[in-house]
Amino acid sequence: MTGSEQAVAVAHPNIALIKYWGKRDERLVLPCSDSLSMTLDVFPTTTSVRLDPAADADTVVMDGLPARGEPLRRMTTFLDLVRERARRHERAVVDTRNTVPVGAGLASSASGFAALALAAAGAYGLTRDPLALSRLARRGSGSAARSLFGGFVVWHAGAVDARDPDHASYAEPVTDARLDAALVVVVLEAGPKSVSSREAMRRTVATSPLHPAWVTASRADLVRMRAALRAGDLGAVGRIAEHNALGMHATMEAATPPVRYRTDASAAALDAVRGLRADGVGAWATMDAGPNVKVLCDLADADRVAERMRTVRGSRVVVARRGPGAVLRTEAA
Ligand code: PMV
Repeated sequence: MTGSEQAVAVAHPNIALIKYWGKRDERLVLPCSDSLSMTLDVFPTTTSVRLDPAADADTVVMDGLPARGEPLRRMTTFLDLVRERARRHERAVVDTRNTVPVGAGLASSASGFAALALAAAGAYGLTRDPLALSRLARRGSGSAARSLFGGFVVWHAGAVDARDPDHASYAEPVTDARLDAALVVVVLEAGPKSVSSREAMRRTVATSPLHPAWVTASRADLVRMRAALRAGDLGAVGRIAEHNALGMHATMEAATPPVRYRTDASAAALDAVRGLRADGVGAWATMDAGPNVKVLCDLADADRVAERMRTVRGSRVVVARRGPGAVLRTEAA
């Protein structure tokens, strides 16, 4: 046997400052453009994978309850890919625990598939190479590729004409970033999202006339973002991130039928961020596939930003900083 047969991994969510929105290849999960994120130090996912030679199906327990339906199907499909690569056939017993407040609608698929990729690779005796693990995690959920690493992380889309497109698309840390910022997470709605990011991306790519323009703009945003991170220029990082996120939402709102994640509460939160700026506080917003808002700011301003965001009706606010990459635990939790 080559695998250790059981492994436990911990991974944190990440929030993109340059977004991934749209796949050019659904099966391989190849994005239309590069993206760049910050891994958070809050809401880790802990996942254990144990091989069970006697079982004829995978068992997945999520937050103490047996997984069923689509979440189970996605995890089993992912484990099939791991088994194919490891040339093993044993089914697995998976136990995954999120610490994100229940139903907060935060990027739990990123931390979830990063932790699953690392734990499954450990249990089945696959690679420990971080770049290879990011390629693997990508197949579970695109944004998970970035949660393998801590701090600021770039996910390369890979050249369209690459000989091995799977190999060309991986994440790696941005090693020359000179910025230590806070992301103030503003949870506005607890319910499950109306349209999955998978379906929303598909619809955007297929029908939104704005998507090609956003992809082109996003490539330029990434170049400017990397320079701003190198320079430690929080204002530039914030402006580029906000512009990129609002552009992404515009592309999906222009799809047929439109995908609209922004709610009245989101609008109120975005107004509060503008209000902070009007008061001279450096604060910039980003949003993902849901109504929640994340606010980038200087660490020294995080409490003031959090206090203002708490005035948005119905909000729950958590201050996050730069967090670590995914790690294997030597002992089961
Ligand atoms: O990895 P997915 O399929 O959950 O997509 C994530 C998409 C966004 O969160 C909206 C953007 C991003 O880059 O994380």
